[in-house]
Amino acid sequence: MSTKPALYFGNDHAGLALKRVLLKRAQELGYTVTDVGTHDEASTDYPDWANQVAAKVLSEGGWGVLVCGTGIGISIAANRHKGIRAALCGDVFSAKATRAHNDANVLCLGARVVGEGLALEIFESFLATPFEGGRHQRRIDKIDADAP
Ligand code: RB5
Repeated sequence: MSTKPALYFGNDHAGLALKRVLLKRAQELGYTVTDVGTHDEASTDYPDWANQVAAKVLSEGGWGVLVCGTGIGISIAANRHKGIRAALCGDVFSAKATRAHNDANVLCLGARVVGEGLALEIFESFLATPFEGGRHQRRIDKIDADAP
C-alpha cells in the first residue's frame, strides 16, 4: 500500500502552466492527484481555488498544492482554514523546513516568481521531507488551539 499522500492541486489563471508541470511530475512520482482547477486561462479568483483545495485536504487528508501569480493571495486564503498549514516557498531550504518543522499540508508557489526548474525542486523537496514531530508538534498544536 502506498504511503504517499493524495495531492490536490488548485490554481488561478496565472498558475495554470506551472500547476500542469507540477501535476505531471507528481504523476511520474506515483502520487494520486486531483486537479481541482482552474483548467483554463480565463481570469479567475484565487480564493475560490484555495478554498476548494483546503476543503479537500481537511475532509480527505492528503496535501494541497496551490499556484497563483505570486503565491501570496492563494496562501493567505488557504490559511484562513483552521487545520491548514499552507507554506509559500520560493526556495528549497524553506520547503524542507516547513515540512520538518511546521508539518505544512499545503505548498504554495508563485508562478511569476519562481522558474519551472526551481519550482520542481521546491515541490520535490516538500514531498520528500518528513515532519520531525517532538517540540514542533507542540507548537503546531498551539496554532489552532490559540486561534481566535
Ligand atoms: C492575478 O493577477 C494575481 O493577482 C494572482 O495570481 C496572485 O498573484 C495573487 O496573489
